[in-house]
Amino acid sequence: MKEKILESLKKVFYPGKTHSVVKEGIINDIEFKDGKALIKIKTKEQNQAVIDVFKKSIPLAAKSVEGVNDVEIEIEKVVEKKEKVSNIKYVIATTSGKGGVGKSTVSVNLALTLAKLGFKVGLLDADIYGPNIPVMMGIEGIPVQIDKEHKDKILPTEKYGIKIISIGNMIPKDAAIIWRGPLINQAIKQFLDDVTWGDLDFLIVDLPPGTGDAQITLAQETKVSGGIIVITPQNVALSDAMKANDFFKKLKIPVLGVIENMSYFICPKCGERTHIFSHGGGKKFATENSLPFLGEIPIDVAIREGGDTGNAIVVANPTSAVSKAFEDAARNIVEKVKILNG
Ligand SMILES: Nc1ncnc2c1ncn2[C@@H]1O[C@H](COP(=O)(O)OP(=O)(O)OP(=O)(O)O)[C@@H](O)[C@H]1O
Ligand SMILES: [Mg+2]
Repeated sequence: MKEKILESLKKVFYPGKTHSVVKEGIINDIEFKDGKALIKIKTKEQNQAVIDVFKKSIPLAAKSVEGVNDVEIEIEKVVEKKEKVSNIKYVIATTSGKGGVGKSTVSVNLALTLAKLGFKVGLLDADIYGPNIPVMMGIEGIPVQIDKEHKDKILPTEKYGIKIISIGNMIPKDAAIIWRGPLINQAIKQFLDDVTWGDLDFLIVDLPPGTGDAQITLAQETKVSGGIIVITPQNVALSDAMKANDFFKKLKIPVLGVIENMSYFICPKCGERTHIFSHGGGKKFATENSLPFLGEIPIDVAIREGGDTGNAIVVANPTSAVSKAFEDAARNIVEKVKILNG
């Protein structure tokens, strides 16, 4: 009898849709005894008018089955819980007008330093064409996992207490994928919406060089609390930084300030400071553009080695002068982001 009743309900259209109430999956159970049917409905439907239609059309259809004299329906409304999988306080993006100035290096070491200072930190590699974060964080070849609790979400990879997402952990290494603008937008949108970041104080976004799709998508898809412009001291790099600054302005991203990378060299033998690429360019740029100067990071072979081997210097050598420089910069960033965003 239950089957016959169910069959009859397959002719009842779900209001406003082109399929039946059965296909919609709202018929939870059917009981039948002594000519009386009890149809149990479980629905997320919030519209009372639609519920009223169920109340009429479902008993009517069931009564058309021979032997069914009476029909009662029981409706259980389930409230869909939209669980928030991410709660991010501050999104911070590092950028530069020019490639190779050390954005990824700075992003990684700042993220790790912020974690060391006790913050909950995520690191999003927005460089879709040339993701460097997996190598720098030593998570190359570890594929991302699906979040079992939230089946349509992605779990970030954890290392040294920070949560990391990169396209590099999603596609086979060296896969010849030609990414176009819309795909970049999609990927970055997914990184923001479909990753279970959990509660974060800071999400550091490592942007690709220049002024392209990744920057635009990020600004469109989320509120960026602040941008950091990474520059090297040479004059050519400074003119590129100008472009990055203008672009942030156009995207209405507040600029937290400037970090000068490869600022000076400390001789490992005598400890003397040498300004290989002139000096003071970063500070001058910051002053001229009314931006805070967040810090200067020396040039050090250990930084490069740390990046190449997935042993970031601030973790590998936490007491080094370089780690101290990153800590100063991180503290300045925390201060500025709070001033700008409360
Ligand atoms: N302060 C530093 N001292 C020594 N080497 C450094 C320093 N900063 C960065 N490097 C090295 O310079 C190279 C480029 O750095 P990185 O990849 O971080 O730059 P990027 O701006 O992110 O580059 P891209 O524009 O390609 O994304 C890397 O090999 C890195 O290890
Ligand atoms: Mg990079």
